[in-house]
Amino acid sequence: CGDTMKLCIKVSGGVIVDAKWQTRGCGSAIAASSVASELITGKSLNDCRQLTRTTIAESLGGLPQSKIHCSVLAADALRAAIGDYESKRIK
Ligand code: FES
Repeated sequence: CGDTMKLCIKVSGGVIVDAKWQTRGCGSAIAASSVASELITGKSLNDCRQLTRTTIAESLGGLPQSKIHCSVLAADALRAAIGDYESKRIK
């Protein structure tokens, strides 16, 4: 829909110890960003890889059908952040 989320993660010992986000989007996207950052903080990268848009939406108490795609933004941003971290770590 054009909304965007920027997610920064701080990783130590394979665990996400901090997460900051900036979302330009609807209220559901902002709520999904917030809950996603809470869900991943203190969890291992492996656990965070398993986090799905469904988990994020359920953690919000559900989203209306027309807003389900808003939870995808946070799930995609998380995958991108982990991928970025791992690509920089390997080099
Ligand atoms: Fe675009 Fe919610 S309407 S992310």
